[in-house]
Amino acid sequence: MSEFNVVTETQEPDLDTAMKVVYQWNYEPEVEELRRLYDKANEAQWIAEREIDWDRPIDTECFSSEGLGVAIPIEKTSYWKSLDDEITTTVSRRTAAFRLSNFLHGEQGALMVAAQLVNAVPHTDAKFYAATQTMDEARHVEVFAKYIDKLDEVRPIAAPLKDVLDETLKTDDWLKKLVGMQIVVEGLALYSFREMRNLTEEPLLKELLTYVARDESRHHAYGVQYVSRCIPQLTDEQRTELEDFALEASRTLIDSRNNSTFFTEALKIWEEAGIDSSALLKSLQEERDELTRNAKPGRRLGPITGFVIPTLRRCGLLSERVATHYYGFLKENLGTNLVGDDVQQFLEIVPDLPEDTGRWVMGEIQ
Ligand SMILES: [Fe+2]
Ligand SMILES: [Fe+2]
Repeated sequence: MSEFNVVTETQEPDLDTAMKVVYQWNYEPEVEELRRLYDKANEAQWIAEREIDWDRPIDTECFSSEGLGVAIPIEKTSYWKSLDDEITTTVSRRTAAFRLSNFLHGEQGALMVAAQLVNAVPHTDAKFYAATQTMDEARHVEVFAKYIDKLDEVRPIAAPLKDVLDETLKTDDWLKKLVGMQIVVEGLALYSFREMRNLTEEPLLKELLTYVARDESRHHAYGVQYVSRCIPQLTDEQRTELEDFALEASRTLIDSRNNSTFFTEALKIWEEAGIDSSALLKSLQEERDELTRNAKPGRRLGPITGFVIPTLRRCGLLSERVATHYYGFLKENLGTNLVGDDVQQFLEIVPDLPEDTGRWVMGEIQ
């Protein structure tokens, strides 16, 4: 434990928010599916310290053999293969710590938004549920911090993620908070946790992601059930505003200008570990065709097309107008290969939400 100070060195300056607080005097169950979700969340509480064996060392070999989680397989270049094991292990470990740090910071954002939702949502059942989510998110912050502490060190939050968290915390509109957090951020998290959980062979990480992802699928269900209930009662103008809020958040998260911050961070990690990044990139450039020739078929839709947009469609927040905007910026970032030649084709590529998100996130169904 470090020394106690009222003002700490690591805190950020305050963020002014304009949240409206709502009392609700009806305590009877009113939104049945949310009450059921609350009961389920109570049943599913777990204790990180007790349920997970934290004494196990992390098997860092796993990170080296799993690739670096970037689209281009730099770990297959001849330059990479010529490097000392010690260097490549360091890079793999730090890259994993970087990705997990963003999960960690995202969890802190989720913790604070969930707590705001307790105050801001107008239905008792929805307040109850948000209270259980607040507890869940505190536990998620706890486990990611613990894991990163064993692995390496916490790295700073990526700017695009921080922007989306700020906007979601700042808005005075509880429906925007729901859409920003429960649909966009939780959608991105659920998709990423699923991928990482199914890919990793590191036992401790796999175990904690199993616990976390199970909670997250409930958080996502809360968003879907609550938002779908509300949409039909909104004016066109209100619905358009919500659609745009989700669009901006999604755009911020995957815009290529923002992705360059990920690349900058990756370069930093390489150089810290003693890699000559220009030699690595040169080797990549020269061997690119060879490396991608035998790439496995099957495309990765990514979190926005693969999960966030399907969720918006389910909730009634994907008008033709906003779908055109999604198509436009996804095409710019990913190319027509992944999004189709026009918006109609794009809408056919967008999958349906899995029937059972809980089983989907565990990789039991596609
Ligand atoms: Fe979480
Ligand atoms: Fe969550």
